Order: sequence, then structure tokens, then C-alpha cells
Amino acid sequence: MAKKIKTIGVLTSGGDAPGMNAAVRAVVRTSITEGIRVKGIMRGFAGLLDEEIKEMDSFSVADIINRGGTILYTARCKAFMEESVQRQAAEICRKHEIDGLVVIGGDGSFRGARSLARLGINTIGIPGTIDLDIACTDYTIGFDTAINTAIDAIDKIRDTSTSHERVSIVEVMGRHAGYIALWCGIASGAEEILLPEYYDHDEQRIIDKIIEHRKKGKRHHIIINAEGIGHSVSMAARIEAATGIETRATILGHMQRGGMPSCKDRVYASIMGAKAAHLLKEGKSERIIAYQHGEFIDYDIEDALAMEKSLPEEYVAISRGLIRF
Ligand code: F6P
Repeated sequence: MAKKIKTIGVLTSGGDAPGMNAAVRAVVRTSITEGIRVKGIMRGFAGLLDEEIKEMDSFSVADIINRGGTILYTARCKAFMEESVQRQAAEICRKHEIDGLVVIGGDGSFRGARSLARLGINTIGIPGTIDLDIACTDYTIGFDTAINTAIDAIDKIRDTSTSHERVSIVEVMGRHAGYIALWCGIASGAEEILLPEYYDHDEQRIIDKIIEHRKKGKRHHIIINAEGIGHSVSMAARIEAATGIETRATILGHMQRGGMPSCKDRVYASIMGAKAAHLLKEGKSERIIAYQHGEFIDYDIEDALAMEKSLPEEYVAISRGLIRF
């Protein structure tokens, strides 16, 4: 018989992402609707170990759906990789009568969730990261807001870049993945999109292209560089030296993780949060909520973690075809 869950714990873990609050709110309110108590765990797995746990009610998640960041705070917890620490965390869950847990975060957080599930705490994962680098899902909480924040900044950089007839390198986040760079590169009409998955370190090609574009009368040259390649400042210096054209680098950084979540992030996160609470109520465990081909589904956590994901080759080819001058 499926385990009957009486109390659900919810935590956010890893890098924060706009929309996490909407997911927390949905977990809390759906659980309460289903007659299940909810406890908020502060600062991810680190807060769980420190027993930073508080009772949540409907009111405790009022007025947060429109707020960036996470009201539960977040942390990365290296210690949680150790089995003894995981056992201690499972005991703490039992002590606080938490028999179901929703973990909102990325792959590292899901590995933590899997360990707790194996120690008897039913767990469900919700993909939350601006990087879109979780293999089992086409959507992760925060990506949509992050690319819109980045594109807003890139459009502004483009104005000043044109006025000064400069080359501008804009570095966007994404850790090792190029999703944010690809989307922002296409959306900004950038002259160059540098993706870690495809980077060949051929700076001479970039330089030749800038010179060619300038000869044809192009007044600015926007290069979107992914964090996974990095080195934007030194790259700018080399490009300026080789082309004779003033070149500036802007690293957008953590601004991409903040701000009001987009409508899409609020709605998708709400659906994922509600589904997580429903799965726990049904007695399910070790599942990851995902969005694929227009549907919200769930995967076995083991299968989800074993999946691989790569930038769609076709979109990369299309993005290159769009850069013509
Ligand atoms: O995973 C989200 C992310 O913002 C990545 O894009 C980036 O590499 C990393 O987190 C930065 O982490 P921190 O905030 O710990 O510097």
C-alpha cells in the first residue's frame, strides 16, 4: 500500500531562480488543500541539517508569486554528498514528522533528494535553474525570466555600442551550457554567438568577421559569449588590438538570476509545485517533474539523472544562418 503522507517539507537548493517562490507557494497551498501539513526548510539541505524548519500556512506564501529569489533562501551543501550526513538529515526529517519532501533545484539537489528517498523519506524534485541544463525537461524554472532580463540588458548595450561604433562582448550565465547564450544571441540579432558546446577557440575567425562587417558598413558588432567560455575581458583586449576597433566587455552576472519572474515562470512553476504535492499525496517517491512536448510529466529520478541533453544542433545551425551581412 502507498505510504500516506501527513507532512510535506519543501526546500530550494542550489542557485536561486525567478519563479521558485511560485513553486513553493503551489506546494504549500496544494498540500493544505489536500489536508497535508507543510513545513518550509530554510537554506536548502544545509538548513535541513541545522533544523531550520518552520510550519507553513496559506498566509505564509501570500504576496510572493511576483517576487524573485526564494523566500526559503538557498545554499549549496557539499557535505550532503556524505552518507553519514544524509542519514542525519533523514533522522531530522523523521524528528520533524516530515515524511514527504519537495526539492526545488538542479541535478545536484536531485541527487540529495534521491539519497533521502533511499533512507525512507518520499521525495519529488522540481527543476529550478536559469541554466536550462536539466536533461529530462525542456523547461526549468527561471530560464524564461533570465533570458528576458539578459535581452533587456543586451538591447541597451547595443544602443551605446552603435553610438560609439564599438564591438561589444556580452557574457551571459549558463555554467557549462549554452542555452542562455543561444537564446539571447538569436533574440538580440547578435553578430556572433559563442557557445561552450561548439567553441573552437578560433579567435582569428571572429576578428576577420568583425573587419569584414566593418568594411561593409556595419556600425556595431555584438558578441554573445557564454559563461562556459568566459574570458570576455581578455578576449575584448585581443580583439581591439587586432582590429583597431574599440571593444568593451560586459559580464551580466547575477542580475540574470534576480527580478520579477515572467508570467511563464510563475505559471509553469505553479503547475510543477502543485503536481509535486499531488504525487506525494499519491504515495509516489523518487520522481522528477518535467515539461516535455507541451506536457507536464514526471520521471523516475534515476532515469532523469542518467539522461543527457545537448543544445539542439538545428537551432545552432539556424542561428548561424541568421547572421548575414
Ligand atoms: O546555476 C545557476 C548559475 O547562475 C550559473 O549560471 C552560474 O554558473 C552559477 O549559478 C553561479 O553560481 P554562484 O551564484 O554560486 O556564483
